[in-house]
Amino acid sequence: MAKKKTNSAETVLTVKEAKAEIDKLSEEIRRHQYLYYVKNQAKISDLEFDRLFRRLQDLEEKFPQFKDPASPTLVVGSDLDKDFEKFQHKLPVLSLINTYNEEELLDWVNKTDPEGIYSVEWKIDGASIVLYYENGMLQNGVTRGSGGIGDDVTDNVKTIRNIPLRLPESVTVHLRGEVFMTFKDFDEYNEISSGKYANPRNLSAGSIKQKNSAETAKRPLRIFTYDAVFPEISKKFKTHQEILSKLEQLTFPVPPNTVFVTGSKIAKTIKDFKKKKDKIGFPTDGLVIKLNDVSKRDALGYTSHSPRWARAFKFDAVMKESKIVDITYAVGRTGKITPRAEIEPVSLAGTTVTFATLHNQDYIDELGIGIGAVVRVAKRGEIIPAVEEVVTPGKEIFKIPDRCPSCKTKTIKKENLVDLFCPNPDCPDRVKNGIIFYCQRKQMDIEGLGEKQVEFLYDHDYVKSVADLYDLKDYKEKLMEEEGFGEKSVTIILGGIEQSKQKDFRFVLPSVGLPEIGHKVTELLIEQGIDSMDQILSISKDETKLEALLEIPGIGPSTVEAFRENFADKKILKLLERLKKSGLKMKADPVKVADRQPFAGQSWCVTGSFENFQPRDKAMDLIAYYGGRKVSSVSSKTTHLLAGPGAGSKLEKANELGIEIYDETRFLELLKSLQIDPKI
Ligand code: IVH
Repeated sequence: MAKKKTNSAETVLTVKEAKAEIDKLSEEIRRHQYLYYVKNQAKISDLEFDRLFRRLQDLEEKFPQFKDPASPTLVVGSDLDKDFEKFQHKLPVLSLINTYNEEELLDWVNKTDPEGIYSVEWKIDGASIVLYYENGMLQNGVTRGSGGIGDDVTDNVKTIRNIPLRLPESVTVHLRGEVFMTFKDFDEYNEISSGKYANPRNLSAGSIKQKNSAETAKRPLRIFTYDAVFPEISKKFKTHQEILSKLEQLTFPVPPNTVFVTGSKIAKTIKDFKKKKDKIGFPTDGLVIKLNDVSKRDALGYTSHSPRWARAFKFDAVMKESKIVDITYAVGRTGKITPRAEIEPVSLAGTTVTFATLHNQDYIDELGIGIGAVVRVAKRGEIIPAVEEVVTPGKEIFKIPDRCPSCKTKTIKKENLVDLFCPNPDCPDRVKNGIIFYCQRKQMDIEGLGEKQVEFLYDHDYVKSVADLYDLKDYKEKLMEEEGFGEKSVTIILGGIEQSKQKDFRFVLPSVGLPEIGHKVTELLIEQGIDSMDQILSISKDETKLEALLEIPGIGPSTVEAFRENFADKKILKLLERLKKSGLKMKADPVKVADRQPFAGQSWCVTGSFENFQPRDKAMDLIAYYGGRKVSSVSSKTTHLLAGPGAGSKLEKANELGIEIYDETRFLELLKSLQIDPKI
């Protein structure tokens, strides 16, 4: 038989061999994904996995006729932007009735079936999803939507690593689950995104609705499935426990720690769950208690919105009822428009609350929120409380108008098709919030300039851009005459502004507030020796240099695009020029170094946690002070890895590359031998 030559240097494969290898690799990769994401028992390293994955991608490219429709390579997503089609659910996607204290819950148990068996599971705090499999193949992944019709987000769902695309048997099953992110994955992802996400739930919900599935593929999403209907074989399952076992057998991940107990044990079970809550590593907002017996469930039936056989039990939910008086919107510095409900004042967790966030139109639709509605509001992770549920609906479901409330420009939807944005960079609210951001502690840390003061300065034409802050001293006398700006506060403000000139490029660049260019990206650039605005400007003009940025781990195409776009923008260039003229430091200060440089020539990566170095940056700073180079990822150029408990793939990679590895004890010994005090 004629041998077909492939491009990869040494491999020569016949078509038949290629097919066999594609099948074998697909199977092997699927098995490893299952072991890693579902079973938490990786059998091979990330590097080995990547090698298999890339080999499969390579073969599929050369022999597209053999690409399996359920190929694991589909997890990389597609770059095509597309809007979502509406999908009519095959069964109503119901919600749960909430209970807020144990008494209420136990009362329900006693009234329903005190002797019966109940499952107690985590209520996962993510985005609800319905998966439709026909004959063992994933056909559709759909958001809950209104419960009747959802958005078809199949391409995005296919990128989620622990969702099987093909099942081990040819069954037809419709199942429900929650797409979520572990706290660890959220923190890592949020760090490279300059901390722009409030919590894992919001990020998960936004990720599942990306227009472009290649973007979803970058987000570390996972799923737990917790309910299923087998239209062809439903009679066979007598209990919820059997359904969950079946799901596991079909390689679906189910919520961990689920127990089946009689009604009388529920109180004790709740205590056990509460103890575990902070250790499970994924977000949960309570428990779901479900009657186990399917025939008993059927006898109890449903209300129009929820099953009578289940209850959600919310942990420590400090919720208050109030009425929506009005709905307004805030326009953030990025242009994002967040609708807010103005509510009758209620006291919640120690403060009087008059506003609650409504997130976006999808959220408003899902809950059925309108002016006049009686709602429950709660404080979760965020500072601003949110409307959690509707007790009595208002007149009609609220629709966010399509113009920016601040500048009346027509709003646009960006990548996730949920949030609305004002596209006008000169929009007064955007600019104001940009100045507020610049003054924040994490940024230029300007004393005396909070939200109120900036708003006043903007509205009274003192400061229309961050560059104007540095001219404010010329208006000292006038400002002192303004209400609320006495001599003392003006002195503090002007002192704060002057003081900010001590902050170097490390702070100036991220404080300007350009999309994608936050602290993390700035640090990555400085690590590579790109430590001044002049360098950034020259790179941004040069396509080859821009492309080269992609080689820095942690910098992706969207960041490069941000450099290309923003630093070609005349207004931004003018602003940077003015900041420079005002005396801001447009270059990173050299890091202070010791007289002795015992770590010179070494590149250290630090990962995991340490007893003596908290946060671990302290270990990094120490190494840098004594001449070492800090790097944030392990590569062939890394000479040492300092690894504490919790070190993950970096440790594995260092092992494979044969890099010198230190644990905390060995590192402390090294410091001692070099006569370095670990405390400085
Ligand atoms: S059962 C008819 N189980 O909570 C079955 N829901 O407030 C209803 N959720 O929309 C769902 N974890 O998105 C169920 N273990 C769990 C859950 C869970 C999270 C979500 C789900 C649902 C919402 C209801």
